[in-house]
Parts: sequence; C-alpha cells; structure tokens
Amino acid sequence: MRLSTIFISDFSLLSFMLYLRRFRPKDLETILRIVEITLGENYNASFYMNLHNFWPEGFIVATIKEQITGFVLGTISDTRTARILMIGIYPYYERRGIGSNLMDAFIKQSLRKNVKLIQLEVRTHNQKAIQFYIRRKFIINKTLYNYYKNGDNAYLMYKFI
Ligand SMILES: CC(C)(COP(=O)(O)OP(=O)(O)OC[C@H]1O[C@@H](n2cnc3c(N)ncnc32)[C@H](O)[C@@H]1OP(=O)(O)O)[C@@H](O)C(=O)NCCC(=O)NCCS
Repeated sequence: MRLSTIFISDFSLLSFMLYLRRFRPKDLETILRIVEITLGENYNASFYMNLHNFWPEGFIVATIKEQITGFVLGTISDTRTARILMIGIYPYYERRGIGSNLMDAFIKQSLRKNVKLIQLEVRTHNQKAIQFYIRRKFIINKTLYNYYKNGDNAYLMYKFI
C-alpha cells in the first residue's frame, strides 16, 4: 500500500520522488541497518515483526528510487494513545523533510484509529531529535531518569493530534 508521494530536493538540486509505504518483511535487513547506524541499537527480528503484526499501519518506510531512506515505527497503547518507538533517517538523507513526512504519515494513520495523543521518549542529549520533535509541535512532559539500559535519561514528549 502506497501512503503518499512527495517531491524532495537533493543537495544537487535534483528533485526526487519520495514514496511512503507500509513496512514489508523483506525490508527488515535494511531497517536493522538504519537502527544500528542512526541509533546505535540492535533488536532482534521478532521485535519488529511483532510490532508490525500488531499495527501494520504504524510501521512506515520512506523510499527514493526503491531504496529505503528512513522509517518510523510506533504502536498503539490504547485506543486513543499512540507511541513512536523509533524514527530514523539515513544520515545522507537527513534534514530534507523525510522525517517530517514520516511523522505526518504516522499522525494520519493514528487519526484513522481515533488516536488523540502521541507520546515518545528521546534521550535528553539527542538535541537533533529533540529539535525535530519540538519543530513538529511536541512538548516535553517530564524527565525519565535512568530510562535507557545504559543509564541515559529520557524526555517524555507528547503531542495532541
Ligand atoms: C531526528 C531525525 C529523525 C530527523 O529527520 P530529518 O528527516 O532529518 O528531519 P526533517 O528534515 O524533517 O527536519 C525537520 C526539523 O527537525 C529539526 N532538525 C533536523 N535535523 C536537525 C539537526 N541536525 N540539528 C538541529 N535541528 C534539526 C529542524 O528543526 C528541522 O527543520 P529545518 O530543517 O526546517 O530547520 C533524524 O535526524 C534522525 O534519524 N536522527 C537519528 C535517529 C534519532 O535520533 N531518532 C530519534 C530518536 S528515536
């Protein structure tokens, strides 16, 4: 299922078609690579497949010329709240609106499920991501101390949609 098609500009000022579609199981290897590169984290395949099976619409990939450039993965914790678990863009493709387009698509899918609130956690030192979420009108709710396995703190952020 294709969710949307958007034009983005490359640094060379050539325009490329950005396609957003649902995750497919054959994308898994690329997703694992993006997570490792962008977040330095590793989760096993069943983590992704379980989330995909639970809510396929909440796992969206962005492609240019059929190559995956980024993705967003989220879940619904109850009928009115969705949670973004991960969003990652290949470094070469950062800051060209791909993350924003993925976020918009995620919000659109959430609205279809009558979600009212989107929540996420982000490392308190991840300034790039925090700026990205603030730009997308998310608000910092509170600090979650020792939230991550390595002891990093998180901000709990939210946005009503
Ligand atoms: C955070 C991330 C998803 C943003 O994706 P992106 O495609 O680069 O985002 P966009 O191009 O849509 O940027 C939208 C806004 O985010 C902010 N932003 C993005 N990159 C930024 C950076 N390097 N420094 C400061 N602000 C930044 C800006 O406000 C930007 O708007 P602007 O370019 O008009 O100023 C991407 O940088 C990424 O994958 N980071 C590594 C993984 C990660 O930290 N994920 C979040 C935690 S799960």
